[in-house]
Amino acid sequence: MNNKFTKILKKKNRSKIICLTAYSKNIAETIDPHTDIILVGDSLGSTIYNYSTTRKVTLDQMVEHSKSVRLGVKKSLMVVDMPYRTYRNKKIALKNARRIMKETKCDAVKIEGGSSIIKIAEHLVKNKVPLMGHLGILPQSIKGKFKFKGKKIKERNKIFNDAKLLQDKGAFSIVLECVETTLAKQITKSLKIPTIGIGSSVNCDGQVLVIDDLIGLNESKIKFVKKFGLIKNNISQAVKKFKKDVLNKKYPTKKYSY
Ligand code: KIV
Repeated sequence: MNNKFTKILKKKNRSKIICLTAYSKNIAETIDPHTDIILVGDSLGSTIYNYSTTRKVTLDQMVEHSKSVRLGVKKSLMVVDMPYRTYRNKKIALKNARRIMKETKCDAVKIEGGSSIIKIAEHLVKNKVPLMGHLGILPQSIKGKFKFKGKKIKERNKIFNDAKLLQDKGAFSIVLECVETTLAKQITKSLKIPTIGIGSSVNCDGQVLVIDDLIGLNESKIKFVKKFGLIKNNISQAVKKFKKDVLNKKYPTKKYSY
């Protein structure tokens, strides 16, 4: 593990970890000075391609977007999501993880699940693939309505035990997606590795959001999404100015011509 991992692990109980998604170079370059982790999430399926589920995202798509992101990431740790069915057994998982690591030069991969994928998680780590876990809502397995996790005692115990298992098998960090506040707190306190929350309260060691949601490029109505910017308005204003200048033959002037 390189220095970037050590820096992130050291932040536990000291300072919050800032994580955001990116799907392309320009966004990665813009957010990199402010982030600790940049995640090429398979949320690109819904965010960019308008897929109804992340299950449709392919390995090739993840690799191509990640190559673009790599061009913009200098200081953050870069993590790439392994898409649906690309880690369905140990052999396939290792082959695909190695492809992702080799072609995208990312620092780590992320897979969803707990006990059901623990042998795969262990196999990846044993073969020197740095691994981030993902518990709570698992978008690749979602059936029916999108509900937060950790209401019922059985579910709470499962998520808690899964978090411990992932830590024991060598995951360097775990994303907790839509995990009930007190459970997220309990997990975060019990683990040595950092938890990164999304819709899982302020109690996690870090926070992640989908960048398009944060900057207001998406029409997201999810409870945990706070729009920190309204970039759509900025784009609209710039396009309106361009259109006006073109219609009035004010652009391109001599300055912008050869
Ligand atoms: O795919 C993704 O962007 C994610 C984050 C929301 C954690 O998994």
